[in-house]
Amino acid sequence: MPVPQTVPTLQAALVDLIDLGLQAKQAHWNVQGKNFRSVHLQLDEVVTDLIAWQDEVAERISAVGGSPDGRAATVAQTSKVESLPTGYLQVEAVVADFAGRLEAAARRLEATLTSLDEDLPSQDILIGIVAGLDKAAWFFRAQLA
Ligand SMILES: [Fe+2]
Repeated sequence: MPVPQTVPTLQAALVDLIDLGLQAKQAHWNVQGKNFRSVHLQLDEVVTDLIAWQDEVAERISAVGGSPDGRAATVAQTSKVESLPTGYLQVEAVVADFAGRLEAAARRLEATLTSLDEDLPSQDILIGIVAGLDKAAWFFRAQLA
């Protein structure tokens, strides 16, 4: 059964996932430097995962009777993801930025999990997303070694 925390917790996850997806596309278009192609393609793989997770979270909000808010203004006002600089982005900076942003988003989501102990379907969705964010963060972090 959904609990009172379900919709706000899922909504907070939704805006972070949308922001991360927009930022990954922005970086996909603006990245330059050594290993450009690998990072350019890696960013689009992350976008694919993020879009799937956005949909899963938004539809869970609807399924429990809430109204998901994925509007640009809402994302801009409520996302906890640090914003990207404008202009071209160097490969090394993009790799470090996404390792950090994906890891930070995973930890923010992870910290909300126990509030959903009475709503296991929502908790299960977020657990899967935390694991996915951790894997995506690792794929960037491994390039910094
Ligand atoms: Fe593209």
